[in-house]
Amino acid sequence: MSKDMILILDLGGSQCMSAARKVRGEGVYCEILPSHVPVEALRSKKPRGLILVGAPREDASGEPALSREVFHLGVPVLCVGYAARRMNAILGGECRDTALSLQTAEVTFEPCALFEGLTRCERYVSRMDNIRPFPGGRVLATTPEGVAAAFGDEERQIYGMQFSAEQNDPDGLTILSNFCRGICGCEPWWNAQTYLDEELIRIQQAVGEEGSALMAISGGVDSTVCAALIHRAIGDRLHCLFVDTGLMRKGEPERVQAMFEAMRMPVEIVDARSRFLSALSSVTEGRDKRRIIDEVFVEVFEQEAARFPQADCLVQGTIYPDVIGSFGAPRIGVGVPAHGRFRVVLEPTRTLFKDEVRLMGELMGIPGEIIDRQPFPGPGLAVRCMGEVTEEKLAALRLADAIFREEIASAGLEKRLGQYFAVLMNAGVQKEYTVALRCVSAADAVSASAYRLPYDLLERVMARITSEVPSVSRVVYDITSKPPASIEWE
Ligand code: XMP
Repeated sequence: MSKDMILILDLGGSQCMSAARKVRGEGVYCEILPSHVPVEALRSKKPRGLILVGAPREDASGEPALSREVFHLGVPVLCVGYAARRMNAILGGECRDTALSLQTAEVTFEPCALFEGLTRCERYVSRMDNIRPFPGGRVLATTPEGVAAAFGDEERQIYGMQFSAEQNDPDGLTILSNFCRGICGCEPWWNAQTYLDEELIRIQQAVGEEGSALMAISGGVDSTVCAALIHRAIGDRLHCLFVDTGLMRKGEPERVQAMFEAMRMPVEIVDARSRFLSALSSVTEGRDKRRIIDEVFVEVFEQEAARFPQADCLVQGTIYPDVIGSFGAPRIGVGVPAHGRFRVVLEPTRTLFKDEVRLMGELMGIPGEIIDRQPFPGPGLAVRCMGEVTEEKLAALRLADAIFREEIASAGLEKRLGQYFAVLMNAGVQKEYTVALRCVSAADAVSASAYRLPYDLLERVMARITSEVPSVSRVVYDITSKPPASIEWE
């Protein structure tokens, strides 16, 4: 089987993720690397082509590093938006003033492999500059104003386009497919089933006949799918630990244990509640809470790992967004250091996007209720409990959160919502707390909007929380979208 792949070089922002998802959606495997990666590292991956996408943030100092040699690797290169202008300048073309910005423009295409099958069409342009293509390049698409919307050297197979292919463009998929499959000649081989089959063999080879593996699971989608993969490959030679930090939602440790038992994967619960709570005493800042929780987690895990001296492989549920750094904070359990005693670190979901992890879970027959679980931050309720974390505050928060979840479930809304939870705000002079409810629809790392929950449901939740949780006397609903707010409060 062919192992063709495309490398996406990231020049900043989040567009590379959308581009990668589209390319993989076409069955072409791709990976994202930062644009400053040494050229030898690019070459060693033996890509069939490169896509350069993204732009530095407005407040960034200087331009992202990009070596001229990238254009001399002997494989086709497609540069999108800012990357196209950078490429043109590097190769000796001329970029003058900005011609169009934040508007719609009609683009007409010259006959060429990149735009095969496309007709003249209006598209949204965030920015197009007046440019003169680099020596050897010619204009491949124009606007009525005569702006070079795309240009390239078809002999050297270097292309630049000043409109996006990876976001809302109506022909985005066709252009990416023309590039990856037509110009680069990539065979589509990537799909969840192929990945699963190959990963199982890779795991078996890495662990060997005698090896065994240790993993800290959180009960979230990623670590569950990851554990199921390893379990399928090596069976009971996988040992799963669930560290109860005391910062979980109501009933969570029991639920996780039952979930794993139903999948015939035994999991051992490590009760570390008092350790976490005492480490968090008098800590009030979210950042400090996260750091301390991470540190204690590693200590607890290392101590527990000592009980499994025969385990020579460490499993980590890293997923691709963790690797390319699209999340603000590293997730708990993901950062367990691979200290000397482990011969091998297994990260079977390292190159997968979240929806691909879910797909893998479905293929392995993991029940929908697990696959569709909402994300829950590793530091758990600690970052939903404003100010110091105490047993008393956690108990109130856990109960309020459970009431909110129960009411959402009985309204049949669970599947429509991305993430919903309660936050406990600091007590005022009355020593009574305010609970804030947060509910966002289909969230990703970059954006989310508050869901318009029915008012009567909110009233029911308010009535129940204020009567069933004695220390809470006020309930508010957070209607802020992301941005400007984040999903979590701390
Ligand atoms: P924010 O609050 O940054 O959250 O809009 C984006 C997503 O990440 C989750 N989140 C975390 N997950 N450790 C985690 O494992 C954390 O420290 C953390 N902080 C936020 C959040 O729940 C949302 O899904």
